[in-house]
Amino acid sequence: MPALTSQPTRAGSRVLGTGSYRPEQIVTNDEVAALIDSSDEWIRERSGIIERRRCAPGESLTDMAVAAGAKAIADSGISADRISMVLVATVTHPFQTPAAAPEVAFRLGALNAAAIDLGAACAGFCYSLGMADSMIRAGSTEYVLVVGVEKFTDFVSPTDRGTAFIFGDGAGAAIVGPSDHAGISPTIWGADGEQKDLITMSQSWSEFRLEPHDNFPHVVMSGQQVFRWAVSDVPKIATRTLEAAGISANDLTAFIPHQANMRITDAVVRALKLPEHVIIGRDIETTGNTSAASVPLALDRLRQSDNLPSGGLALLIGFGAGLVYASQVIELP
Ligand code: COA
Repeated sequence: MPALTSQPTRAGSRVLGTGSYRPEQIVTNDEVAALIDSSDEWIRERSGIIERRRCAPGESLTDMAVAAGAKAIADSGISADRISMVLVATVTHPFQTPAAAPEVAFRLGALNAAAIDLGAACAGFCYSLGMADSMIRAGSTEYVLVVGVEKFTDFVSPTDRGTAFIFGDGAGAAIVGPSDHAGISPTIWGADGEQKDLITMSQSWSEFRLEPHDNFPHVVMSGQQVFRWAVSDVPKIATRTLEAAGISANDLTAFIPHQANMRITDAVVRALKLPEHVIIGRDIETTGNTSAASVPLALDRLRQSDNLPSGGLALLIGFGAGLVYASQVIELP
């Protein structure tokens, strides 16, 4: 039997560029509160959110993904035809099939790329980054476009008191490519399906089809339980990530957690005892929780507003519905 050939492997991968897209329309807390017996004060105090973005009528999830992806490509300096994989992390693409990724790849001119969607909710971007790193090191891909994108406007009920004020629309993206050293640490990831009902849909599409009604399937959440899980487990996961990366909190330039709730971010920062110099991603104030898009949106904003130094280290962590989590340290582009 002849031996099969395999792809040559590589030493490492790193993020080469980032981009983001926020829809123009701003939705204030007062607008949301009017439909759920709430107030601007309550929403700010309990979640840290001041406003969120919403797509314009006719603006689609793939429009946002393409806008963010184009900026990441430009930032990386890599031409679109060199991208060999497009990973779109999302849980709000409104088509069961086809996936969003082939359309995104086509519209960006990434005509030589394989393209798939990845459903890992608020951990989707960090899961995708871990997969991109593994595939590049294994030699099966060279340049990967990773997009986190969500259009929650289509899947949140404006009258659901537990979720209407939290979620927003947006997209963030990164180009990942080969490196002669590890620019992405080992990804610490996992899942706990026993807790699948903590963040889920109000009903399945099959149930809805049998008995159609006005309140279409939408996201529902056991907020308090999710909150308790996040503040107890996220610091432990983040600590494991630092250990796997072989660094300490003191080595970090930035900490960019999933933007779930400002109180969760504050609790995790306290538990990790992060030194003063570490810049914290607090994008939720003006963006809300954009699930798979939240980490790359926060990362791209910090790179622009705080001039995060190229070569600095950022700890990323995503966590959410599933329950699932994924975390890694990246070298900043
Ligand atoms: N506006 C005003 N009051 C509200 C409200 C709203 N939207 N939702 C609940 N309340 C009230 C409740 O009725 C309750 O009143 P009571 O004390 O008189 O009974 C009180 O506020 C506390 O309710 P509770 O559900 O315990 O709120 P909370 O402090 O847990 O905050 C969340 C709610 C959703 C902000 C919080 O649980 C949370 O952020 N959870 C995690 C969410 C998250 O991160 N999701 C994404 C995961 S990736």
